[in-house]
Amino acid sequence: MKMIRLTVNVALLLLCASCVTMPDGKNSEPRKPEGLAMTPQMGWNSWNKFAGQVNERVIRETADAMATNGMKAAGYIYVNIDDTWEARQRDPQGNILADPTKFPSGMKALADYVHSKGLKLGIYSDAGTRTCGGLPGSRDHEVQDAQTYASWDIDYLKYDWCNSQGLQAPDAYKKMSDALKATGRPILFSLCEWGGSKPWLWANGIGQSWRTTGDIYANFDKNRPHSGYSEYGVMEILDMQVPLRKYAGPGHWNDPDMLEVGNGMSESEDRAHFTMWCLLDAPLISGNDQRNMKPATLKILTDKDIIALNQDPLGIEALKYSAKDGIEVWFKPLTHDAWAMCVLNRNPDPKHVSFDWKSEKVTDDISNRETKFDTTTYRIRDLWKKQDLGTTKTPLNADVQGHDVLVVRLTKS
Ligand code: GLA
Repeated sequence: MKMIRLTVNVALLLLCASCVTMPDGKNSEPRKPEGLAMTPQMGWNSWNKFAGQVNERVIRETADAMATNGMKAAGYIYVNIDDTWEARQRDPQGNILADPTKFPSGMKALADYVHSKGLKLGIYSDAGTRTCGGLPGSRDHEVQDAQTYASWDIDYLKYDWCNSQGLQAPDAYKKMSDALKATGRPILFSLCEWGGSKPWLWANGIGQSWRTTGDIYANFDKNRPHSGYSEYGVMEILDMQVPLRKYAGPGHWNDPDMLEVGNGMSESEDRAHFTMWCLLDAPLISGNDQRNMKPATLKILTDKDIIALNQDPLGIEALKYSAKDGIEVWFKPLTHDAWAMCVLNRNPDPKHVSFDWKSEKVTDDISNRETKFDTTTYRIRDLWKKQDLGTTKTPLNADVQGHDVLVVRLTKS
């Protein structure tokens, strides 16, 4: 009898390994039973490059490319179909259908194909009546759609916020989150509500990431106005992330939108964009044509030292330490008492930067760590140039190109 009770207790303990303990000692509902996105998710999405031109050939060829070009090896495993995959109408039973012209083989066959490449397949819907592209949304079909996605073996859902009049975002997203969890399939849930209702305050436990802003576009620092909304340049989005770092962590990430690397900015701008997204613990969802990439673009997207900053298990976003004359210094705490330090030059022209470690002190109120450059010496490694730059005993002096970064890893000597 005692033996049986012991076994039951152990089983309960294991079951509750993912429960959250409330202040009164009781356990609440398990919040992240799937253990998804314990580091920011990595993959690709069709929207930034293909928008309404996505089809099954593009998805298959993208999977083929990613399986062999170094992207999968670098950690990019999700191949995500964005808006316009849907047929114009649901079937008479209300089931969502794929556009038969764009996806003639159907989504299950496509998922099988993508899985055969060792990758995962993502899909898109919207909490409202229609998607942003005007196709059927999931409102009032949440359970049915989640079951359909699970029956197709879908691994990821991006869930948009167009045509959502009358809905409360926390309720609408929880509804789909619950529907996905009820399928029993681990489907990563990526909220795309653009930040209007501050999802960082309520979406932990509902999804693994939430968009913090409106849409990005391939520009370093200018926005592109449309009637009623704007698309943002990379630096504008970066500025909006500064107050949000405390809300992110393993399994619940701020999403400053998908990558525009390879979509038209200069090489240094792409490098700066990618570096900052890595430092922000952003989901790394590439948005360029994978079948046709310049070597310089692939080099940026697959740099293992920079990706390691993003995938560091500590999961704490970088903090903005200083900003003056278009030069910003950012610090990110890393495991093993290491730090990343980044100098971002937002000016179009090169700048000389001098940083005297001993007169600087960085305090991170999330990890409760501080640099003690007066008593601790760190070795400095330039992560893009793959060069050692001495130690923090002597000031750092460097020229940083316009719209570029210097990013170093500080390791205790
Ligand atoms: C919104 C989203 C984008 C993209 C489009 C698709 O604008 O924010 O990321 O999904 O819809 O229509």
